[in-house]
Formats: sequence, C-alpha cells, structure tokens
Amino acid sequence: MREAQPTAILLQDYQPPAYLLERTELQFLLYEDHVVVDSRLQFQRRADSPAGAALQLHGEELELLSLAIDGRALEPGDYELTEQGLEIETVPASFQLQCRTRIRPQDNTSLEGLYKSHSMFCTQCEAHGFRKISFYPDRPDVMSVFTVTVEADRARYPVLLSNGNLVASEDAGQGRHRATWHDPHPKPAYLFALVAGDLHYVEDSFRTCGGRDVCLRIYVEEKDLGKCEHAMRSLKKAMRWDEEVYGREYDLELFNIVAVDDFNMGAMENKGLNIFNSSCVLCNADTSTDATFQRIESIVAHEYFHNWSGNRVTCRDWFQLSLKEGFTVFRDAAFSAAMGSPTVKRVEDVKLLRTAQFAEDSGPMAHPVRPESVIEINNFYTLTVYEKGAEVVGMIHTLLGPEAFRRGSDLYFQRHDGQAVTCEDFIRAMEEASGMDLGQFRLWYSQAGTPTLRIQDEYEADTQRYTLHVQQSCPPTPGQPHKQPMVIPLAMGLLGDAGNLPLRLAGAAPDPETADNTSRVLVIDQAQQSFVFEGVAERPVPSLLRGFSAPVRLDYQFSKGDLHALMSRDDDGFVRWDSAQALATRIILEVQDQLQAGAPVAVDGLFTQACSELLADESLDPAMVAAMLALPGEDYLAELASHAGGADVDTLHAAREAVKVAVAGACRESLLRRYEQLASSAPYAPDGPQIAARSLRNTCLDFLCSAGGSHLERALAQFRQARNMTDRLAALRSIAFYGEESQRESALQSFYADWRHDSLVVNQWLGLQAVTPAGDAVARVRELMRHPGFELRNPNKVRALVGTFASQNPVHFHRLDGAGYGLLADVVQQLDGINPQIAARLLTPLTRWRNYRGRAELMCSQLRRLAAMEKLSPDVFEVVSKSLEDAD
Ligand code: BES
Ligand code: ZN
Repeated sequence: MREAQPTAILLQDYQPPAYLLERTELQFLLYEDHVVVDSRLQFQRRADSPAGAALQLHGEELELLSLAIDGRALEPGDYELTEQGLEIETVPASFQLQCRTRIRPQDNTSLEGLYKSHSMFCTQCEAHGFRKISFYPDRPDVMSVFTVTVEADRARYPVLLSNGNLVASEDAGQGRHRATWHDPHPKPAYLFALVAGDLHYVEDSFRTCGGRDVCLRIYVEEKDLGKCEHAMRSLKKAMRWDEEVYGREYDLELFNIVAVDDFNMGAMENKGLNIFNSSCVLCNADTSTDATFQRIESIVAHEYFHNWSGNRVTCRDWFQLSLKEGFTVFRDAAFSAAMGSPTVKRVEDVKLLRTAQFAEDSGPMAHPVRPESVIEINNFYTLTVYEKGAEVVGMIHTLLGPEAFRRGSDLYFQRHDGQAVTCEDFIRAMEEASGMDLGQFRLWYSQAGTPTLRIQDEYEADTQRYTLHVQQSCPPTPGQPHKQPMVIPLAMGLLGDAGNLPLRLAGAAPDPETADNTSRVLVIDQAQQSFVFEGVAERPVPSLLRGFSAPVRLDYQFSKGDLHALMSRDDDGFVRWDSAQALATRIILEVQDQLQAGAPVAVDGLFTQACSELLADESLDPAMVAAMLALPGEDYLAELASHAGGADVDTLHAAREAVKVAVAGACRESLLRRYEQLASSAPYAPDGPQIAARSLRNTCLDFLCSAGGSHLERALAQFRQARNMTDRLAALRSIAFYGEESQRESALQSFYADWRHDSLVVNQWLGLQAVTPAGDAVARVRELMRHPGFELRNPNKVRALVGTFASQNPVHFHRLDGAGYGLLADVVQQLDGINPQIAARLLTPLTRWRNYRGRAELMCSQLRRLAAMEKLSPDVFEVVSKSLEDAD
C-alpha cells in the first residue's frame, strides 16, 4: 500500500478566495524540448478578507525560474513551495505577481495541462489542468480577463490560437512568429486554451439575432478537411436554437473548434476555442456511422451551449459541477430531440441512465448529483452528475412548465452573468420566476441512490373508481443510510380497450399543462400516497412514468397482456418502447429459468406475435420499430438482476440469444420483407428518415443472422456492397457475431486492409472485436494490444479496445477463470503511470463486483492487487479503495 494516502476535500469546507485576479497576462515560448511560461497576474485583496492573508497558488510539476512582486524579485525564503503549489506569506493589498516557469509538454502523457498530440501543442485545463502550466489560483471562483501571447517556430506551428479575439500577429525573428489573443470576458483558468500546430481550417459565418457576424472555423489536419461539414452545420443549428429557445446570443467575433487525436474526454468548451477529440467532430459518410453523426451533432451543441451555461455563468467550486453539466446535457438533449425524433432520443438517454447511471447509483462510488466529498475531482465527471443531473433539471422543467422554466433560466443568466455560482442559485432563480417552492425538491441534489416507486392499483366496477397506491423508497448509499421522501413527478395515463381514457382525478382540477385530458403529472412527495380516478368505465391498464418523467425504478406487476397492450396502443411513445422492453425482459428471464432448470427452451408466442405486429406496422417510425425490437442489452439485464441475487452472465447471454433466434424463426418473412423494402439507392444523408430506415434494416439483418445459415450470405453481400459506413459496419458486426470463424476472420481482415489509414475507423474495428462474443475474446484483445493500430497512450484506442471489452462483452469479461479481470487490471496498472484519469475510468466495470453471481472474490482480488501497487495515482486509489470498503 502507498504511504501517504490522498485526502478528501469537502463541500462544507468551501472558503472564498482571499485575493481576486483582475488581469492575467501570459506569454508562452514554445520549443521542441520545453516551454517557458511567463505570467503577470494583477491581484487585489477581497474587501472582506483579512489584511495579511497569505496568497495561495496551485502548481504541479512546474520548474520555477523566477518570481517577483511589483518588479521586486522574491528570494526562496519569501515563499513556500510544495508538491501542490506555492504560498506567499505576505503580499500587499493590490499587486502584480510576475512568474516564470518551465514545463515539458512533450513528456506530458496525462493529457492534462499543456501537452503534445502528434506534432501539435494543445491544452486541457478542466478541472485542474492549469496548475500544470503555471502557478495560479486554479479554482473556478477566481475569474479574470486573459491576454495571451504565443511564440513558436513558424514552419512547424503556422497556426497559433488562444481564447477570444486575435489582436496582434508579428514576426519574432529566427524563423519564429508570435500571436496575441485577448478575451474580454472574465473567466476561470479551467476555460483557458492554447493550440499551436500545422492546422488547416474550414470556415463559415453566422449572423446572430442581434445582427452581428461571427466567423466560425474548424481547425484540423489537412487530411481531415473533408470531415468537417457536418460539425459546421451542427454548430450553426445549435447557435440558432439557443437564440430561439433560450434567448442566448453568442458574444465574440469568432468561434473556433480544433480537432485533436489525443484527448481524455469528448470535447471541451474553452471560451471561443472549443477543443474536440477528433472522434467527436470529424465525420463523413465513407468513414462514419449514423451514430457518430448524431453524437457529433449533440456534442458540438453541448460545448457551444456551455458558452452560457458554464462560461458566462460558471461554477463556484467543483462540487457544483452539475450546475453546468447537468443543465447543459438537458439543453443538448432538447436540441437533439428537436433536430430528430424526440422519442428515439429519449429512449437512447433512458437506456444509458437505466443501465450505467443506475448501476453507479447502487455501487460503491454512488454519490449525489452535488457530491459532498471527493478525493480526485476527475472521478466525478460521472453519469450521476451528467445524466441524473440533467434529469433533475428536466423534472424542474416538468413541474414548472415550459414558460415558467424559461423565465427561470432568463433570470438565472441575467442575475448571475459573469459570476461563479452554486446549484442553489439555479434553483432559487427557478423558484422566484415560478412562485413554486422547491424546498423538498432540493433533496435530488443531496441524496444519492435511485428511488423506487412501488405502485398497486384497485378498480371498482360498480363505482367506476380506479385507485393508484404509490409508495416511494430509496436504498442506502455510502454515507447515507436513511433517505427522506423526494418530489417525484409521475406522468401517467390510463389505457382502455379503445385507447387512452379521459382522466378525472378526484379533488383536482384538470392538469393545465396538457391540452387533452388523457395524460397528467401526479406529484409524489410522501412515502405513501393514493390517487383516485373517477368515471373510469372499464378496468384500465396504467401507463406509468410517461416520457420517463423521473429517474426512478418502477415496480408495478404488469401482466404480459398489459405490456402487449401498452406497447401496441398507448399514446405515449416512450411507454410503448418501455413496455416492449419490459415484455422482452420478462421473456428472456423465462428462458433463462428454463436453461437453468435444464428444460427445453420455449419462447412465449405472445412475444413473437408482438414482434410480427411491430414489423408489420408501417405507420410507425422505422426507428421506433428498431428500438422496440432491439432486445434489452446484457448490461441492462445484469443491472436488473443485481437486485435479485446477482446476474448469471452466461445463462443471461444464452437466454437472450435464444430469444433472438426464436424471433428470427417466427418472424422470418416479415424480417426479410422489411430488409428488402428498406433498401435504398439514395445518396447518403444523415437525416431522420434515412437513419431510421438503416437502423431498422440492420436490426432485421442482425435478427436473421442470429439464426445462422444462409442469412450470413446476405450480411456478406451487404458488407461488400455497402456505400456507407453504417451499413458496412452493421454487416461486419453480424458476420463477426454469427458467422463461421473463417468468415469472421476474412471479413475483419479485409476491413482493416481497406481502412488502416484512418485511425478513427480502426478504432471502430478494434471496438467490434472487443465486443464479439465468438472466439476467445481475452486472447484477441491481448493480441490486438500489440497490433500497430493500437496505442496505449491514445485514450480513444484504449476505450475502443479495453473499455468496450470490459463493459460490453460480459461473457468474456466475467470468465470464471478470471482472465477477463486479469486483463483489465493489467491494463489499468500499466496505464496508471501514463494517464491516471483514463486508468481510473477504465476500472469502473471491476467496481460492480457485487452485481455478479459467483464472481465477487475473483473481481476483488484484482482490485486488491491494484491497491497493493507501490505508486498509485489518487484517481485509481479513490476508485479502488472505495470499491473495496466493507468487502472482506
Ligand atoms: N467540460 C466537459 C469536458 C471535460 C470534462 C473536460 C472533464 C475535462 C474534464 C465537456 O463539456 C463535456 O461535458 N463533454 C462530454 C460530452 C458531452 C456531450 C456530455 C464529454 O467529453 O464526454
Ligand atoms: Zn459539458
């Protein structure tokens, strides 16, 4: 075990900074083997902090060359230098600090701070990266106006970028040049960015609602100029949407995006200079799938939306992270819904929430949307902060209604423009604009864990009264043994034989938010409540949690017939999908029972019947048919089973496959018919109708292939003839999963031969092999780690191969000989010395050891092996130690 254990930082210990920064002037001299950073920082003591307060600056891995206050050089005795930073005991009330440091970006493999990606210099400062660039008060509540000069060799680095507007460029002699950037908007250091490289750009412009023209540029390597169009179009749509829906106008003359290959996250919202992982901005029809096109549209929008929700109004401290991330995810989800099919978008988001976020919320790293204690902040960019945080904002939207919500967001932006604030400030603006009391609602920010809504119903034919009894509960989570009842908006309706019934809730006025009276939102705010509906002429099937109106588990005993009725006839698209999933889940679990009992497999005809009906329904959006046919993922099924004694991954996988084969057999004709009917010769477009058609067509193909035999020929033909990457990769996937070994190997090889020059396509190829259940996946992944297409230092490659294997190939990851766990631990161990952020994230699947039957000891022993490592980053330390708490 390591000697000095990292300590936790607590929300309750927050102290405002003693000194504020008015101006930040930086000068960077970039050389091949080092960079010199000069800073001039204009400090001012805050009115209410005591005279004589020490000045505290963060700084890590910096070589201090010189330090001066108002031109007077400081001697080593004037300050104290530690691993974490620098403290100057006595400073005047107002002064300029001048500091010179040297750093070595070419050796920085953590991809935090200033580093090199191939030949390009770039930065990543959120959350604590700036302290690896210069000594600085690196906290989001210290905001200042930045002026940045960058000097570098002109031939190697013709493009020099930073935040804001370019104010000067000049020759610097000896083949060097210099550019100066000024950003008029005060910002915290985490939004600083610098890029220098041999970059080319695609340019466009946008006229804002206020009539100003903004120059938009996407900077890429020359070879990628043909992959920028979609991101540019997405950016313009996002800018327009934020004006129309939130009244937010852009505030600089330029907006730059840069694509970099080595990047820890998806993208970063630096003011006026967003930096993107190249996988999240570059695409075209030849090389990218529909899913990539959609992801790019939403990430470009997300980072753009941060210009207001994050940059103009930022976070006081990192415990408030959901203030910007939860809100911005809510905003980008509404944008994506508006650009495509709202129901399909909602389904995608709920799938992620219910599998991965629910698992996080019931695991050892569970934490509230606003955490209270963290060791390493990078471990808290979680699904809880992002996705559950977005759901919490969504519930406020539901409770207030769209108009009051918009008034609340206007008030929030206007009141806090230029400030660093808290989640409390956001809620208060919503309360003031709506007149609604969100007192109890605030528990969503402080209580961890996923609540369960247990619902029972009663119908009295003679009085025509229908009653819903609702009970809420929330399981204990680390540090929170007891929970209080939350405010849970439960959107619902009642389904009768001929459709949805009008609702008359005893003692209540009609819901003003819904135009018709067949849907309403019940507000659950006590441990137990009952709701009585009158004038209900027949026993209805309840349509519950419409649109997934709250991030909760629903416990109601639907019969299979109820689910079939809801999936075919309910008005709410989400409930239709959800009922289809619930029915499929029920069927898979029945087959799992049969397998475990050694009985012959028999798939309920009701289910295959429901699938045929879906396939026959041409009035439905094909994307919805595809989403409803797709069987629940093994990860979701495992998450459900974790509440029933743990998942048995092997029989779960076998049962799911058996159900797939049964559907393929029973629906053969309709699958084939839709497959043929949806073929298209139109030129590729990433638009709604085309994406929907491809998605259903490829779903049909995959079902057919699961039954093997001649259907593989169809997949092979599609693989050879495909004219876009979506169809090509879908076919390759079906071949890899269901083909003979020789078919699989030759298709994979020919794909690599065709695409080896494109690193992003190679990542898809790595990812596909990582999830393929056929063959020995552990051996395959280990072998691919030595392949020239793999690089341990590139996070995209690690995620594509090792991350995908551990999170999406349960049968092999959970092998009973422990080889899957051993592989993951080996990689984490190796990676921790290179990139601790990625190492810690990769570890997540091992932390779920409580969810798998018969695996706990095997999984924990790998965690213990990591815990015993001599040099462990705080990132990995936190995950490992929290996961092992109260394991024997
Ligand atoms: N601010 C984050 C990026 C970030 C997170 C940088 C953590 C450093 C540490 C950015 O706005 C973000 O949230 N990006 C997401 C994508 C988004 C669509 C949810 C990402 O990178 O995954
Ligand atoms: Zn974000």
